[in-house]
Amino acid sequence: MKLAIIGSGRIGKSLGGWAAASGYDVVFAARDEGHAREAAAAAGHGASAASAGEAVKDADLVLLAVPYRSVEALLGEIGPRLSGKTVIDPTNALNPEFNDLVFRDTSAAERIAALIPEAKVVKAFNTVFARHFEAREARIGGLSMTVVYAGDDAVAKAQVRDLISTLGFDAIDGGPLRVSRDIEPLGMLNIRLSFHQDLGSNIGFALLRKG
Ligand SMILES: NC(=O)c1ccc[n+]([C@@H]2O[C@H](COP(=O)([O-])OP(=O)(O)OC[C@H]3O[C@@H](n4cnc5c(N)ncnc54)[C@H](OP(=O)(O)O)[C@@H]3O)[C@@H](O)[C@H]2O)c1
Repeated sequence: MKLAIIGSGRIGKSLGGWAAASGYDVVFAARDEGHAREAAAAAGHGASAASAGEAVKDADLVLLAVPYRSVEALLGEIGPRLSGKTVIDPTNALNPEFNDLVFRDTSAAERIAALIPEAKVVKAFNTVFARHFEAREARIGGLSMTVVYAGDDAVAKAQVRDLISTLGFDAIDGGPLRVSRDIEPLGMLNIRLSFHQDLGSNIGFALLRKG
């Protein structure tokens, strides 16, 4: 499975490296191609670096690991190449003060889907802090963190579910992409508890259930 990681910062580099070690064929991109090359070298396992346009060309899965404010420009550049592809949106669209979401009556994922209507957008991973990807640890205190994903295409969702599960997270299907309106506030709560309530970033969510 070929995974293009667009954005080689904390999330892109760490999630991509973990996926490469787990058998994905990973290619990294960034604005500065040197950062993508560094991520590829750190990842090993055959990972490579390319421009964003080149990286997505043969990809099955594309992770938009860029700040939400960069998404529109990025999609202006590579949007047409994403037709038919599964695009994972892990963004938290925060205001400049980092204390609220920009959208409350829609979601970043739906805004992204509207920009690339031919792509299959799936919301996932926005509720997991980078430190967990960097540590390659999906569990806290013996419990797997839950990643709720949402999207409108069943095949795309199955691909994302596989990635989430392969990394060891508890993958829960949240429903259609509109449910990102519920998932994104969970990411905001995570950030609020971590940074504004001083719980730190070694936290995460797990859905408890019987059976
Ligand atoms: N950090 C977390 O704990 C966390 C947790 C969950 C979700 N998220 C979300 O994940 C996303 C990435 O966060 P991050 O912490 O990894 O950010 P980051 O460390 O600031 O990295 C952002 C990356 O995006 C790249 N980029 C920006 N604009 C681009 C463009 N037009 N084309 C290609 N690459 C571009 C940057 O390229 P350069 O390297 O060349 O500057 C950089 O590699 C954000 O939307 C964030 O809300 C973050």
